[in-house]
Amino acid sequence: MSLEFSHPLWDSFLEDLEAAQDISSLTEVRDKYLSRTKGLLSLEMRQLGKLPPEQRPGEGQKLNQLKNAVSDALDQASEIRKKAESDSRLSREHLDVTLPGYETRLGAVHPIRRIWEEMEPIFVGMGFQVVEGPEVESDFYNFEALNIPESHPARNDQDTFYITPHTLLRTHTSPAQVRTMEKQKPPIRIVVPGRVYRRDAVDATHSPMFHQVEGLLVDRNITMADLKGSLECFFRELFSADTGVRLRPSYFPFVEPGAEVDISCPFCSGSGCRVCKKSGWIEILGAGMVHPRVLTMGGIDPEQYTGYAWGMGIDRIAMLKYQIDDMRLLFENDIRFLRQF
Ligand code: PHE
Repeated sequence: MSLEFSHPLWDSFLEDLEAAQDISSLTEVRDKYLSRTKGLLSLEMRQLGKLPPEQRPGEGQKLNQLKNAVSDALDQASEIRKKAESDSRLSREHLDVTLPGYETRLGAVHPIRRIWEEMEPIFVGMGFQVVEGPEVESDFYNFEALNIPESHPARNDQDTFYITPHTLLRTHTSPAQVRTMEKQKPPIRIVVPGRVYRRDAVDATHSPMFHQVEGLLVDRNITMADLKGSLECFFRELFSADTGVRLRPSYFPFVEPGAEVDISCPFCSGSGCRVCKKSGWIEILGAGMVHPRVLTMGGIDPEQYTGYAWGMGIDRIAMLKYQIDDMRLLFENDIRFLRQF
């Protein structure tokens, strides 16, 4: 930079230039000195008129040279700053292609979905068809058609989420029974997976939303032996070939007789462990022979046809199979838990 100008504006310009480390402060400096309206040099130019006429040409020339020098210096500086900025960006954004890449974590299939994907082909292989029913149900299909009269405790507000006096969130997958019978003639072989809802407080074994799969088979001469045999076949596939199934008498309004079904503990093969609480058996589902009234509700003649039905908790089976001891883990979506599947 030439230092031939002994002008106070040149000195202050050089200081400003020195201080302007980036393009935007350079623009400010340019405005400060060269702006047509407010630039210090432009103002100075305007002062020329006040000088005695003989001094004007000399001073004018000097000012013009100064102005050109300022402008050149700014151009030069801005080239340098631009290059510096682009160099520094390049070095910041520099990619080392020899570094190992970041590992991309894959998602996992949720344990409930996973167990359902294991169960479904077993049922399909046994000749069952997969159907679905609505989660928002009428009290007719959820209760009435299943022989659950108005006064039955299962109708109590405490168990059921009502949407309107006659619409509710289904409390089980059983409403699909009569829905299917209305549409299909025997032989009927269906499984119905899905979400169900009950007004239960959350704890290690309860959740207001959980999953069930319903089974329904209606044909001629169906007996309790078919029920037991098909469940045995299913659980032997799902757990192991030596899994035993036992029926205990129980009551559900929509079956007669009704049963509670246990399987031999898959963890100790029945000899008694922590999971089966030393009993060797695990209660796994509710079942029974479809009540004649339910068949009638579905438009099927109970004199000609009989059927069995069962309902099992998918969450419960997932918990058993993957040894998950707290149901909340299934619904909290903690990534540390989900990653394990
Ligand atoms: N729906 C019953 C429940 O949710 C289970 C069940 C289904 C029992 C079919 C018998 C027959 O507990």
